[in-house]
Amino acid sequence: MAVVLVGGEGTRLRPLTYTTPKPLLPICNRPFLERQLLWLASSGVDEVVLSMGYLPDAFKQRFPDDRFGEIQIRYAVEDEPLGTGGAIRFAAEGATGTFLVCNGDVLTDLDIRELLKVHEAAAAEATIALTQVEDPSAFGVVPTAEDGRVLAFVVKPPPGLAPTDWINAGTYVLEPSMLERIPTGVTASVERETFPRTLESGGALYAVQSDAFWLDIGVPRQFLDAQEFVLDGVLGFPPAPGAREQGEGIWVQGDVDVDPTARLAPPVLLGDGSVIGADVAVKRSVLGPGCRVREAASVVGSVLLDGAQVGARSAITDSIVGSGAEVQAGASIGEVTVVGAGAVVEAGTAMLGARVLPPGVDEAAT
Ligand code: GDD
Ligand code: MG
Repeated sequence: MAVVLVGGEGTRLRPLTYTTPKPLLPICNRPFLERQLLWLASSGVDEVVLSMGYLPDAFKQRFPDDRFGEIQIRYAVEDEPLGTGGAIRFAAEGATGTFLVCNGDVLTDLDIRELLKVHEAAAAEATIALTQVEDPSAFGVVPTAEDGRVLAFVVKPPPGLAPTDWINAGTYVLEPSMLERIPTGVTASVERETFPRTLESGGALYAVQSDAFWLDIGVPRQFLDAQEFVLDGVLGFPPAPGAREQGEGIWVQGDVDVDPTARLAPPVLLGDGSVIGADVAVKRSVLGPGCRVREAASVVGSVLLDGAQVGARSAITDSIVGSGAEVQAGASIGEVTVVGAGAVVEAGTAMLGARVLPPGVDEAAT
């Protein structure tokens, strides 16, 4: 059994997450969560509890039969966010055997079987996967002893002060006894409270350093990077379901309509029904199904979600355009601008590093 934590509001990916929960945002035209479920299934997981609170109906709609391939899906819906620890306890209450927990926003192919092996060999109560990052200051930092025993948990240390660059990769193997270490009725963080307290009381906490591919997709720059990594094949080929390679690094799903004067520079993924006009340039980008890019526009290092529209002569650079959103003629957006679902960037405007809210969302009210 695996608990997947998908209850966060995804604040760093707003405005996209006002309408779609982070785990259901697509990475190369496939909801991120489906990629994570495939990864779990490949290690033999056949039962997943989605631990959620924010926009829960979106998940139930995505899996109407409560199944994804071989995986049976259950839902644990919190009335109020319980924090990562509280969420684990609520979702896994009653578990009788060793189980897995993973954060719902980490794209990785790390070896779950290896993690389980170490956990068993060490007779650990919890075993945590670690990954190495350049700047550990945004993560949970986990120094370990030679034998893998966890020495400390340092949550988001100031830049330059981390004791190691190995961080909590957001995948854990837990024994049911860990659940009793999590209080009920209050919010509890597994990283800030449960793991450190387990250490203090002498619990057997182990960690495994992994050099597998690993990326937290929860901020816009990394959400963009994830698409390019997947296009480049870090998770294998094809990069998206049913995609065919129509030229080196040019992937196409279903039927697309590309004007012969358009220039496509790899890697590129075009979703079913996308329409690319004359003299358009598309480079290192993903277009969702039903996107339209009109003449002489350019899309570089960017992601257009399903049904997004790009007007003539506009330029989209290193940016994300949400579902059904429209960038009108002659507009230019860049430097990780994020346009919410259904939002409109008016003709001729220029925006850098901006966030464009979906219609009807009033940030002051949230
Ligand atoms: N059900 C539920 N309830 N899920 C939650 C809640 C909650 O109250 N709060 C957060 N989550 C989920 C989020 O949806 C996400 O999938 C996961 O828990 C982690 O939350 P983030 O908000 O993305 O945390 P983070 O990225 O800042 O830090 C975490 O991940 C890092 C690795 O990416 C920590 O686990 C760090 O220690 C770790 O290094
Ligand atoms: Mg995260």
